[in-house]
Amino acid sequence: VKAALYPKDLSGKKIMVSAGPTREAIDPVRYISNRSSGKMGYEIARAAEYRGAEVTLVSGPVSLASPLGVDRLSVTSVGEMAETIFSRLDDVDAVIKVAAVADYRPRTRAEHKIKKKSDDMTLELDKNIDILKELGKRKTRQVLVGFAAETQSLAENARKKIEAKNLDMIVGNLVGDPASGFGTDTNIVTFFHPDGRKEPFESMGKDVVAHELLNRVSGLLKERL
Ligand code: CTP
Ligand code: CA
Repeated sequence: VKAALYPKDLSGKKIMVSAGPTREAIDPVRYISNRSSGKMGYEIARAAEYRGAEVTLVSGPVSLASPLGVDRLSVTSVGEMAETIFSRLDDVDAVIKVAAVADYRPRTRAEHKIKKKSDDMTLELDKNIDILKELGKRKTRQVLVGFAAETQSLAENARKKIEAKNLDMIVGNLVGDPASGFGTDTNIVTFFHPDGRKEPFESMGKDVVAHELLNRVSGLLKERL
């Protein structure tokens, strides 16, 4: 019923959203991960489907139900997420990368549970592939949107990322504020554009943020016709 209320401005468009955290195994019972409920990404997937898009949701482990009508592909590690996204890139018109990707992974994954021994221990980590940066290099017609959760210098960091990753837009999110935090239904965001424009918003529901973002994506897709 709710879907009937939205304009079908994304009909015929294929949109890939990646959401949630990734997990990098240390041993069979432990992993390195990031704080992420997946709510923001799931709201974008839901809203895009409401507006007529064919939506693929590449999701890390979250405790959310799959939005109706959305094709969800569940992944765990950065490697798996990267492979799933790259294999579908040619087929989509836009990629919205909300996932909180682990920047590093343990150098080795122990076959058995690591037993505690000495008073301190060191984990050796290797850097993971930057999926979004790679997408920025590989994109052809695709609209590419990233997210940047920062605890300081939001504008400066967001601008660096939009350029370094060749993005069409980045959603900056100053985390720490309770209304802009993790696991909540609201978010305080600023949209940054490659031409230097920025659009700051008040606290909004994540569903409203999703529709505001899709308004911009819809506009960019129309320009590319
Ligand atoms: N991202 C990605 N692959 C990574 C790291 C990040 O695709 N290995 C994507 C995220 O999904 C997000 C954007 O890049 O859309 C920004 O992520 P963020 O962690 O803020 O940026 P980083 O480039 O990792 O920089 P840093 O963590 O040092 O701030
Ligand atoms: Ca990061």
